[in-house]
Amino acid sequence: MDGVINMNELIKIARALVANDKGLLAMDESTPTANKRFAAAGIPQTVEARRAYRELLITTPRLGESISGAILYDETIRQQTKAGVSFVDALKQAGIIPGIKVDLGAKPLAGFPGEKVTEGLDGLRERLTEYKQLGARFAKWRAVIAIGTVGPEQLPSGGCLDANMHTLARYAALCQEVGLVPIVEPEVLMEGDHTLDRCFAVTQQGLTMLFTQLYTQRVRLEGLLLKPNMVLAGKGSFEQNTVEQVADATVTCLLRSVPPAVAGIAFLSGGQSPEQASSHLNAMHNQFTGRLPWPLTFSFARAIQQPALDIWKGQDANVAAAQQALFYRASSNRAARQGQYQAKRT
Ligand code: G3H
Repeated sequence: MDGVINMNELIKIARALVANDKGLLAMDESTPTANKRFAAAGIPQTVEARRAYRELLITTPRLGESISGAILYDETIRQQTKAGVSFVDALKQAGIIPGIKVDLGAKPLAGFPGEKVTEGLDGLRERLTEYKQLGARFAKWRAVIAIGTVGPEQLPSGGCLDANMHTLARYAALCQEVGLVPIVEPEVLMEGDHTLDRCFAVTQQGLTMLFTQLYTQRVRLEGLLLKPNMVLAGKGSFEQNTVEQVADATVTCLLRSVPPAVAGIAFLSGGQSPEQASSHLNAMHNQFTGRLPWPLTFSFARAIQQPALDIWKGQDANVAAAQQALFYRASSNRAARQGQYQAKRT
């Protein structure tokens, strides 16, 4: 049966993405997000600047030693290096599996002030087919869940969780049908003054609902990766926790809500500093040695890229130094997966 052959291939790719203590580089910022980050760093917001920056990332020497896969964006998957090599081929030559962000962004959810639902299911089958032809082997879809209050109501609402988890499951099923490994990203946001306990409860509720939906939509967990938030107090909370507390809460929450059949878990960084994100991953591996049923790794964007972007500033003369900073963060996260990260510098 066709489906069985495809599933074996999917499982192989999913496992390769989390093998050898490596993790993923998320470089799938949409054009508005990339422009916002460029503007903050004083870099011109042009197609060429975005292309040059992505070339810098992809051609970083020895990146494939710690990065298994890179998540591209619609603009980027069609671009080439200055030397005329497609980004997809440049990644493959570096031993990195190309992937693609396929959602169309989080939009206001009708009837639920302050909450969003991610759009992009219409026409998704056709878009996935094209991305596969362009060389992508996996995909990513991000849902955002806000914690807070609107008037008398506590966020997130059941309606928002329901809509997003259902959509994630429909996306995942389509990916598997087309032959792409779905990365499923239900991000509980760090914005707000909530406590770590509140983040724990919302993350657990969201993940439990997500896996019910994945089961209902007949998604095979062995051919899927989960990309969750770590369990953290909100950025505005008075109560900030130790690295050990965050590691303990995060893994406990995942152990309670993620089936062992899942091929792997790769965290987003969500606005943590590069050092915080690596330290938390490191502590999880140290505190739960021998007790993790799934490979636990990283799929960071800002926590890997930000130091490199700050050094580059859009100048050719800074490319080598920026690449060194990127390599340093990528290999630091590989060390964290081995429980051997020591925070030193960015
Ligand atoms: O969707 C979000 C990215 O893939 C991860 O970004 O690590 O900066 O939170 P972040």
